[in-house]
Amino acid sequence: RADDGYRLWLRYDPIPDASLRQAYTGAISEIVIPENPRPLVASARDELVAGLRGLLGADIPVVTKATRDNALILGIPRDPWIAAVVNEADLREAGVEGYVLRRIAHEGGHRTLIVANRDSGLLYGAFALLRHLQSHQSLDNLNVISAPKIQRRLLNHWDDMNRHVERGYAGFSLWEWFYLPEIRDPRYRDYARALASIGLNGTVITNVNANAQILTAPYLAKVAALAQEFRPWGVRIYLTARFSAPIEIGGLKTADPLDPAVAAWWQGKVAEIYRTIPDFGGFLVKANSEGQPGPQDYKRTHADGANMLADAVQPYNGIVMWRAFVYSPDNNDDRVKQAVTEFAPLDGKFRQNVIVQIKNGPLDFMPREPFSPLFGAMPNTRLAAELQITQEYLGQSIDLAFLAPMWREVLDADTYANGKGTTIASIVDGSAKLQHPSVIAGVANTGTDRNWTGHLLAQANWYAFGRLAWDHQLSSEKIADEWTRLTFGHDDTAVSTINKMLLGSRETVVNYSMPLGLTHIMAEGHHYGPGPWVDKLGRADWTSVYYHKADEKGLGFDRTATGSNALAQYAPEWQKLWGNVETCPENLLLWFHHVSWDHKMKSGRTLWDELCLRYQQGVDEVRALRRDWDSLKGRIDEERFTHVAQRLARQEKEAINWRDSCLLYFQQFSKRPLPTGVEPAT
Ligand code: GCU
Repeated sequence: RADDGYRLWLRYDPIPDASLRQAYTGAISEIVIPENPRPLVASARDELVAGLRGLLGADIPVVTKATRDNALILGIPRDPWIAAVVNEADLREAGVEGYVLRRIAHEGGHRTLIVANRDSGLLYGAFALLRHLQSHQSLDNLNVISAPKIQRRLLNHWDDMNRHVERGYAGFSLWEWFYLPEIRDPRYRDYARALASIGLNGTVITNVNANAQILTAPYLAKVAALAQEFRPWGVRIYLTARFSAPIEIGGLKTADPLDPAVAAWWQGKVAEIYRTIPDFGGFLVKANSEGQPGPQDYKRTHADGANMLADAVQPYNGIVMWRAFVYSPDNNDDRVKQAVTEFAPLDGKFRQNVIVQIKNGPLDFMPREPFSPLFGAMPNTRLAAELQITQEYLGQSIDLAFLAPMWREVLDADTYANGKGTTIASIVDGSAKLQHPSVIAGVANTGTDRNWTGHLLAQANWYAFGRLAWDHQLSSEKIADEWTRLTFGHDDTAVSTINKMLLGSRETVVNYSMPLGLTHIMAEGHHYGPGPWVDKLGRADWTSVYYHKADEKGLGFDRTATGSNALAQYAPEWQKLWGNVETCPENLLLWFHHVSWDHKMKSGRTLWDELCLRYQQGVDEVRALRRDWDSLKGRIDEERFTHVAQRLARQEKEAINWRDSCLLYFQQFSKRPLPTGVEPAT
């Protein structure tokens, strides 16, 4: 059957195995929900009805009281009989947003329960039950309690007001500003459904670089319309706040956060926002970063700026996510050190509803960089992790790069901030240091393309982000397997092949683009493809030569004590491991060290030979991806098969381009021949 990918992982195609279908149909005779359900419960009902109709080919009746054996019951534990089978401890574990799924014996028969403390838990539980059926798992002995570890699980859209998406590779922005608020694309609902299905509960719909127009009254009315579409799916809206808005749309002469007139303007604006959008979540701010206005324009600190906004939203329980992606034009120090330099001294100075939002690495969403040391440097500040779902530096929507393994690396990274085991996940979810609200953000990869994400397989990254935001302990293997089965069905060969392709793909991109700890050597501006030669741009730290530092002696950025000493921002354990060229893991070698071309690698080869072979390996791995995919011809529909096959063919060309460009370029410095096994440039 032809398929354009619009349905994402919520396909609900009939379960092919008739006996399984019958078993499920027998086990779910009716759906019991309360009378006059509130909006989230109505969404759960609609999803269950549609999902079961698709999967089972049957219309399961919806009733308000259980009348038959095998009823599926959605409930909040007010009924005494629910309390009898789902006890207090279960409910505590389910928490505010979680759920209990349970199959129980009842009056000689059976019932299936979705129980939660709040409506949102019922909605997430409904999606989880459908996922269970889509995964062809048995309902017998069903017994799951699941609760999110992080409270605010958000997409960050980098959508401009003119519908251009910064670093977006899947068409235009989904938000049709010109048509709103009256005309509402049905996609708004499907978007919110998709978020809810993976447990996301909020979205920042505007770009961190967007102008202040979004905060004007006509636009707030449009935002309110979107909020209305998202609300039944438990998705709250947040907006970016341009720091100079009081000047640009407020008619003030200054945006100085300590000026009472400025604070008053924001208070008025916030009151207006909450009048229009009562469940508004809060602001995301990029300030004094890459030319954006901010408190430093008035010689104030990030804390002064963030706290002023935080005080304005505090009466409404709003939050301020203040980004730590900063590097100043007046600071010539190694760019990767600057966030710690600017933010660590402000530790403890932020209001309780300010969350400092930190990109996973200290540079900028590179294919691989070490974790940002800022996570370990602000023990008294709430910290959020910002991950990038859109593949700005990982082949955009052309190359395949499944990012769950990269995010696992980040979430599992140990900062040692409170001793061993202080992982980034434990800092972000608040377990390392009671921090609430807790926030995780993913820069969205969605747009108006029919399949939402440009590359069909990039849907897996949206899915993976949501699943990890809900449960940061999930393994990449589990997430890949879930997604593949939901998206492509259960053909064993197809599932194992696609899983294997996904799981190795990020490392493949690293190999053919920036292996051994190289970073930021991409083409200028659009950032797709190689550009190690880029040496002149607005700022030195936007060039490639700043990062790779190739010379006749060798390659790499010395960030040890003999160099920029960025290493000193990490715990002693890391300093010891990374600081020594012999113990530094080779996948970060050139991030921390300037290494001679003849340096002996673990393989026994020289750095130069190893580098060449890594680039070649990347190309070979893309060829293997193509072979793997080609082997699936006939096992998946032609439309999706061709879509992916075309992209993989293009990816091979790009991998070759990376290899040839980087090796020819670096060879000017190494002056060594290509080792055997590396194809000469085409
Ligand atoms: C990257 C990206 C920019 C973006 C910036 C940010 O530098 O290329 O487009 O604005 O990150 O995160 O603010």
